[in-house]
Amino acid sequence: MWKGRFQQETSALLQQYSESISFDWRLWRHDIAGSIAHSAALQKAGLITAEERAKIVDGLSAIGAEIEAGTFQWKTELEDVHMNIEAELTKRIGDAGAKLHTARSRNDQVALDIRLFLRDTCDELDALLTEMQRSLVDLGARYREVIIPGYTHLQRAQPVYFAHHLLAYVEMFQRDRDRVQDARKRINVLPLGSGAIAGSTIVLDRELVARELNFPAVTQNSMDAVSDRDFAVELLAALALVAVHLSRLSEDVILWASSEFQYLKLSDAFTTGSSLMPQKKNPDVAELTRGKSGRVIGNLVSLLTTLKGLPMTYNRDMQEDKEPVFDSIDTIRTALAVFAAMLREAHANPVACAAAVADPMLLATDLADYLVNRGIPFRKAHEVIGRAVALCGEKKCELTQLTLADYQSLSPVFQADVFEMLHVQKSMEARKAIGAPSPQNVAAQLARWQSALG
Ligand code: ARG
Repeated sequence: MWKGRFQQETSALLQQYSESISFDWRLWRHDIAGSIAHSAALQKAGLITAEERAKIVDGLSAIGAEIEAGTFQWKTELEDVHMNIEAELTKRIGDAGAKLHTARSRNDQVALDIRLFLRDTCDELDALLTEMQRSLVDLGARYREVIIPGYTHLQRAQPVYFAHHLLAYVEMFQRDRDRVQDARKRINVLPLGSGAIAGSTIVLDRELVARELNFPAVTQNSMDAVSDRDFAVELLAALALVAVHLSRLSEDVILWASSEFQYLKLSDAFTTGSSLMPQKKNPDVAELTRGKSGRVIGNLVSLLTTLKGLPMTYNRDMQEDKEPVFDSIDTIRTALAVFAAMLREAHANPVACAAAVADPMLLATDLADYLVNRGIPFRKAHEVIGRAVALCGEKKCELTQLTLADYQSLSPVFQADVFEMLHVQKSMEARKAIGAPSPQNVAAQLARWQSALG
């Protein structure tokens, strides 16, 4: 492609070192779409005839069909997807193919291809995240009566509906969807027409190309357009957060599926056994997802690091953008699909949940509220109940087993109705503030998500 000024062949070592076709072949569909749109602008500018355009379009379509069928021969010596396709086109249709790269550089071409690829990816991710949300909502709805201990510091804190816990993740994945959609806005800008760095003396109608490729806007600075990958960083950052959310959910699933908790039963289809210990049923989906989240975070850091020292504008370093981008997308795509499928076959264990939530200590804060409602300042009430908890420790009993005299020895404000506070169901009924897990609120949130997710 640049033989004019060179007298030596490229070293085989360099060819192997610099090729990107082994991974950027995945951009073929977008490369072809971009070239077809570019040829429309070439024709409009009178640089190719209608017949030449038709040859280009037909030639590229035929190449696309072969790539799709897996019969196209990729050549390492042609370095990347752009040169492989262009060289093959020219081999097939001659001069019309050789005119295609007029007023275009691989620098604006690759920026275009990545943007087109990522734009499609955003739409696919939105669908996958939606499916993940649906599986969480469905699981919560199937066990809408089930209450579990909520935890802080992994210590039993207060009772919550199982569904409320799952809906917390639905909210997180909604923000992930919003972030992906937001990144999509900045991905969705046409860079083609920026040339290598400074556009071209041959002026093409960039807005025509934008319309052909469904871009609502075109980049306004040719140097910016070929030199930044901030839009890809944004998507990798959004994916890193998806990974973090999946990893935390994984941790909950692993705990819940343990013999100690037993809140959740995973199906055989989404667990593995041990080659040694016959009794084992391991939550590998969740463990792998927790593990893979490290890679997805690493990919974000990798791309940021690649970009941070680069002088303007395009530098070959930027070819290193693709592998982290592809890896994060592939990893999250599979993780979301497998996780959603696993949750669809998962079951809560209402018996184990009920046993855990029967712990009266979960209602210690409710007892403090009891005193507050009778005029005791909260800090004082907190101390009184703390002493009640200590008394339980001494008497080796539960808060429900202290006598009224015990309670009154701690504060004269206690009356016989204190024992009415110590019912989980009643405690749940009282949690009526917006966002809190009263049964009415949780039912309303389940209904809201069911209708929002369709
Ligand atoms: N394969 C290259 C990349 O992915 C395409 C752009 C190459 N441009 C150049 N001037 N070498 O970044």
